[in-house]
Amino acid sequence: MCGIIAARVADDATPFLLDGLGRMEYRGYDSVGIAVRSAAGRIETVRSVARVDDLRALAATAPAADAVTGVGIAHTRWATRGTVREENAHPHADCSRRISVVHNGTIENADRLRTTLERQGHVFRSDVDSEVIGHLVERALRVDPDLMLAVQIAVAQLEGSWALVVLDARDGRMVAAADGSPLVAARSTRGDFVASDVGTIAEWCETFVPLRDGDVVELGEAWSWSSEGIAVPVPFPTASPFAQTAVDLGAHPDHMAKEIDEQPGVVADVLARVRHRTADGSTWVGLGLPPFDRLAVVACGTSLHAGQVIANTVRSLGGVPTDTVVASEVEHVVLGPGTLVLAISQSGETADVLRALDRLDDRHPVLALTNHVHSSLARRADAVLDCHAGPEVGVAATKSFTAQVVVGVTAVVSALVASGRLEPSRAVALVDDLARLPERMAAAAVVAADRVPLLAATVRDAPGFLFLGRGPGLPYAAEGALKVKELSYRWAEASPAGELKHGPLALVDDGTPVVVVDHGDPRLQSAIAEVRARGGFVVTIGGAGSDVPAVARPADATDLAWGRSVAPWGPIEAVVPLQMLARELALQLGCDVDKPHDRARSVTVR
Ligand code: F6R
Repeated sequence: MCGIIAARVADDATPFLLDGLGRMEYRGYDSVGIAVRSAAGRIETVRSVARVDDLRALAATAPAADAVTGVGIAHTRWATRGTVREENAHPHADCSRRISVVHNGTIENADRLRTTLERQGHVFRSDVDSEVIGHLVERALRVDPDLMLAVQIAVAQLEGSWALVVLDARDGRMVAAADGSPLVAARSTRGDFVASDVGTIAEWCETFVPLRDGDVVELGEAWSWSSEGIAVPVPFPTASPFAQTAVDLGAHPDHMAKEIDEQPGVVADVLARVRHRTADGSTWVGLGLPPFDRLAVVACGTSLHAGQVIANTVRSLGGVPTDTVVASEVEHVVLGPGTLVLAISQSGETADVLRALDRLDDRHPVLALTNHVHSSLARRADAVLDCHAGPEVGVAATKSFTAQVVVGVTAVVSALVASGRLEPSRAVALVDDLARLPERMAAAAVVAADRVPLLAATVRDAPGFLFLGRGPGLPYAAEGALKVKELSYRWAEASPAGELKHGPLALVDDGTPVVVVDHGDPRLQSAIAEVRARGGFVVTIGGAGSDVPAVARPADATDLAWGRSVAPWGPIEAVVPLQMLARELALQLGCDVDKPHDRARSVTVR
């Protein structure tokens, strides 16, 4: 959580910082702040507990004592320590207001450091852990005036995780450091930039350098780079994976709508990367995994649901023992010999996933499936699969789920063939079927666009929702429920359809919306009948054994049918109407679908 941007440009840094903050709001939006150096060597700071647009208005009207320069830092906050109030918003300053700091991460020994600093006369103005950083730099500068050295001395005293930028009002020097939290530095004709992610600065920079743990870098005419306290050459820059157009809304009303719409294209792109024609003319996938006897998928939230789809595929096609592990519960897991750990995370920065890997026995190789191949997870893993979803700005994961599923299942299919567990001809047929997924997703979107608005209006006053699925349909039911919860703040419970009679049926009353992910298993019909008998409002996503909409649907069901899937990975296309239903419901309830409260795009705290 939290996003950082720093700019060192020729003119006023303010517009760069505000634009960058706008693109990074998905990382947290409790409060925002900006600090720009003035020509007279002061720091002009504006902070707000509102959103970036309010900060923009405040910055435009703030009385500036003198002209601002091209050097500044900014931050968008997702509160973890310290309540949401202006004093707790970043940037934070030292006692003399010479030093300004923005920080993402958690300083675990902040209380101890603060007590010592207060005893030495430092006066704190906020409750947040990050404020100690400015005071530590201030103390180090009293001994040696070199900012680079002062930041190195300061970070050496920190325990926890950080991505930070320190700005010195006196001479405009700027130093960034990272350990356990993401940060990239970039140089272009527009200037020098530091940001929490590449997408934020993609408009200005085509290449970037990711900071590694222990790195400290000073921006300026010539950059100085140090790693674990030792001066090193500036690393060679990497091409930015994200074109600016990829994060612009275009004609879409919100990022979630855009990212839902992008899914057929994302799947087609992924398949174009992994499928190729073999000598005998059949198509095949070029992704392989290290050999494994067992698989353990470790992830959280939506990525965990993608992991469940991948695990179902491995079990049903290859008969391979597979665990799906909620990352935050990893201590209760025993992994057998020969287990490959598949860690899935869109951001690659989820603290629960990273900590889970620290807890696991080193003997198990770790394969990361992530949308950020320079993330902490990618660096920690033995091998990396890029899920190629492109930047996901809406806080609710949509296209990254689909991309994780498609990359994951194609990789396990090729691994199962390589290990002799799956007939090549069966695999080819399955992968060819997957090639029709973009078309099926687009068709599902068309049907859903027609029906979802009325459907959402019918169910929007319901206090809670039940989502049902069976076997391969179950992860999609869980994903549908998660989307409704996080976007519309309504209770939504996912249950295996067969479990209904063992308890959840008690929740079904007159009009209770029950969303059934129907992948064509006839046994779902008895669950639907049980719901109908209690007056529940059934919504089937799919179509019972049908390739066309509305065939064989229950008489009173509202059917979002477009076909059925018999693949081991279940009805992937079902996720489109599920996402659209959650989005529409949230919009009709007046919720912000791109920035639901209490959520941030990457959860970097445990
Ligand atoms: C839900 C959602 C979250 C994330 C979870 C893991 O829409 O976005 O449940 O899936 O926080 O995030 P990553 O995939 O970045 O590890």
